[in-house]
Amino acid sequence: MEAELGTVISTADGPTTLSFSFVISNPKVKKGQFVKVEEGQAAVLGFVSEIFRANRYFERAESVAEYERASPMGESFPVKDWEYTVAKVSVQGAFEDGHFLRSYLPVSPGSRVIEAGNELLKKFLKFDDNGLNIGTLQHHQLEAKLSLDRLLQKHLAILAMSGSGKSYLMSVIIEELLDRPAQDGRIAVVVIDSHGEYSGFKQTKYAKQTEVVPAKKFKIAFRRVSPHMLQEWSPEMSAAQLRELVPIMEQLRKEKKAKAEPYTIEDLIMRVEGEMAEKKKETVRRPLVAWLSELRSSRLFSKSDFPKLQEAVAPGKLVVFDLSDIENQYRKQIIVSYICRRLFKLRKKGKIPPFLLVVEEAHNFAPEKAERKQALAKQPIITIAREGRKFGACLCLISQRPVHLATSALSQCNTNIILRITNPFDIEHIGESCEGIDSSTQDSITTLRVGEALVIGEAVGSPIFVKVRKLKSQLPQKGVSLQLLAARFEEEAKRKKEDVEAFL
Ligand SMILES: Nc1ncnc2c1ncn2[C@@H]1O[C@H](COP(=O)(O)OP(=O)(O)OP(=O)(O)O)[C@@H](O)[C@H]1O
Ligand SMILES: [Mg+2]
Repeated sequence: MEAELGTVISTADGPTTLSFSFVISNPKVKKGQFVKVEEGQAAVLGFVSEIFRANRYFERAESVAEYERASPMGESFPVKDWEYTVAKVSVQGAFEDGHFLRSYLPVSPGSRVIEAGNELLKKFLKFDDNGLNIGTLQHHQLEAKLSLDRLLQKHLAILAMSGSGKSYLMSVIIEELLDRPAQDGRIAVVVIDSHGEYSGFKQTKYAKQTEVVPAKKFKIAFRRVSPHMLQEWSPEMSAAQLRELVPIMEQLRKEKKAKAEPYTIEDLIMRVEGEMAEKKKETVRRPLVAWLSELRSSRLFSKSDFPKLQEAVAPGKLVVFDLSDIENQYRKQIIVSYICRRLFKLRKKGKIPPFLLVVEEAHNFAPEKAERKQALAKQPIITIAREGRKFGACLCLISQRPVHLATSALSQCNTNIILRITNPFDIEHIGESCEGIDSSTQDSITTLRVGEALVIGEAVGSPIFVKVRKLKSQLPQKGVSLQLLAARFEEEAKRKKEDVEAFL
């Protein structure tokens, strides 16, 4: 039985089709809770947007001051009996004949307000019994099971300040994806892991489904690199230089293909050296060889890919590219650029299953403003954001600086999950880029605690606050406390000193 919460009142500004107020009879009512009012055949659904308290005895400042000078008002008057609490409700819609409609009639003053039941909420919020359980709906005992299609197909962004639980939430979503039975449709998950936060999956019950690729081992088959990609990775290369390079590359590719021989960037450099010397084009040779040598210094190119994405990316599997073991930004950018391109290409050809590509620190790979050299992966990410939907290539961008994230990529993310943010610029930016976020919801973002999330957009019928569930298998912690790190350092130093003394 759904609990009764109060009675609709008539106020200067309501009830209207958009809002109404009710006087609370049940202390369980909370801001953000969903409530309903039954009106004939229809049920009007709304959520408590604010709660006010009032007391006639304390309305006039001068009388309160006067009385209180003598003794507390509570001693002379029955002040407690006159206190009442009013909740303001923002109407979300009306449920009639099995359908949700826009509310077309205001509720009547005097109507009973009751708790919105789980079945009604599931329908209204578009939860799916086979969906991904990310936690519980705030103030309700209802699991927030988001539909796979709605959440991921039109891309997802997880935005919040550092340490607010972005990677934790993503790990929860990954667990849900890895646990899906084949008949519900399983997708592959690929993570670009900037800080090595996901390699812990290898030490959980998901070990068999997980492959962790340290960036140092990552290799690109040079035969798969087109002149266009080379130009993207050496943005300062001029059109004239590229014109010289294309025929040489094509020739090399043709020859090697005929002999079914792989080749590397060294082969191309030698060719360029040879041909340019022959044609006596010293002015072209030097910069071209310089670009190619710089690319070679990234030590990323080889005769074949490692890992072979076509084999690694499989339904119900997780591939983590752990970029935490390399410092070189240029190398990271090329890796991400190649992974995005290759995944999308393989998916378009149907050679890999539908996948979710998770990009941590997305503002580093798809920045709004940056030199081209610092944004080598931006274009491939935007391509998946724009065209991925039709092919089942889904993207999840995770960032603690949404202001610096490319708008053209962020605007394609139809669901946003926002955790705690306090920076006013970031909040303002989110308010502008998210549809359906009102000012009171926007203000609530600063009050979220770690592990509490606001879900807005395609995945849900209306913005909701969720308490993110606990992980099924605790991942080993990456961020250890400062206190512990400092103590560990001193202990280690002491031990080394003792070892040396013992040796002497
Ligand atoms: N829902 C949750 N339940 C329990 N603990 C959580 C939850 N969410 C986050 N935490 C804890 O909070 C801490 C920070 O979380 P997390 O590493 O996911 O933050 P982050 O937003 O990814 O930070 P960064 O931007 O620095 O990567 C972790 O220790 C994590 O275990
Ligand atoms: Mg993180």
